[in-house]
Amino acid sequence: EKPTYILAIESSCDDTAAAILKNNKVLSNIVARQAVHEEYGGVVPELASRAHQQNIVPVIDVALKKAGVNREELSAVAFTQGPGLMGSLLVGSSFAKSMAMALDVPLIAVNHMQAHILAHFIEEEGFDMPEFPFLAMTISGGHTQIVKVTDYFTMEVIGETTDDAVGEAFDKSAKILGLPYPGGPLIDKYAQEGNPKAFPFTKPKVPGLNFSFSGLKTQILYFIQKKTEENPNFVAENLHDICASIQYTIINILMDKIKLAVKETGIKQIAIGGGVSANSGIRKTLKEAEKKYGWKTFIPKFEYTTDNAAMIGIVGYHKFLKHEFNDASVVSKARIEL
Ligand code: KG4
Ligand code: ZN
Repeated sequence: EKPTYILAIESSCDDTAAAILKNNKVLSNIVARQAVHEEYGGVVPELASRAHQQNIVPVIDVALKKAGVNREELSAVAFTQGPGLMGSLLVGSSFAKSMAMALDVPLIAVNHMQAHILAHFIEEEGFDMPEFPFLAMTISGGHTQIVKVTDYFTMEVIGETTDDAVGEAFDKSAKILGLPYPGGPLIDKYAQEGNPKAFPFTKPKVPGLNFSFSGLKTQILYFIQKKTEENPNFVAENLHDICASIQYTIINILMDKIKLAVKETGIKQIAIGGGVSANSGIRKTLKEAEKKYGWKTFIPKFEYTTDNAAMIGIVGYHKFLKHEFNDASVVSKARIEL
């Protein structure tokens, strides 16, 4: 049978990404990161959409070239419909629409949050796919969700953050410590040589499976301010222990909720995704939980966990199989439900 070739485009935030899939395998996965936001300590929407505008054509060209696929061979064009920054989404959707129209192939709108979850179904050597039903936890700079997944397109959000995302908790804590943006990977790095119990921070009391991280950030801010008044070199002298303690608290918050989700659903397969799943402490804790609680855990290849187009492509492929297409009137959405 003739293979399906999908061109996928992701532009929901500050990365311009394109991928080519042959069925459920990734032939190329290209991401142009936007350095322009670093000096602002966060993503500036206006600058993001402008950079997408500049990057999108070269990124797609490279994706096609690297995959060794001609545009005439494409079976469909998939793109991120949302959620995300409107100005960024519009660049990707306009481009996808024009390309699908020019090539006369189906257009497929993809939910970015579904894509983070279905990234686990990219066929990749050395990586297992979860079986339905499973619990998916998406943890990144923009998202914190626990989702019960019963089928490719049957998903239910059973817990989510009521304020900051977990990646923001890492990044904002790092900022308080004077570390550059995004600080999550740096906290991870320093934490590896620190004592996680040096400075006990309290976990927020949030009922059920929801999360809250803004209180932790405030707690850390006041703690650092107070300690710095006593000793101006407090942060420099204790950086490893502070980072280890922050990371330990965040991991505990996540683990408490996963344990509760397992208890409430009876599901013991846990799949995580999003940039924060790169955290070495979380990976280690999950591996330990496999033995301790009899769970099976899944972490996709790193390039499929942070924002990328391959995950948009795998959703596109499964929608293609179901003939779920969109016409050119489909609109981008800053917010969409799963
Ligand atoms: O998925 P992602 O690349 O972009 C979105 O936010 O959608 O996630 C980026 C987030 C940032 O907050 C970054 O600090 C965090 O993931 N992150 C980490 C680590 N690597 C990335 N946080 C903790 N430890 C890490 N190793
Ligand atoms: Zn994302």
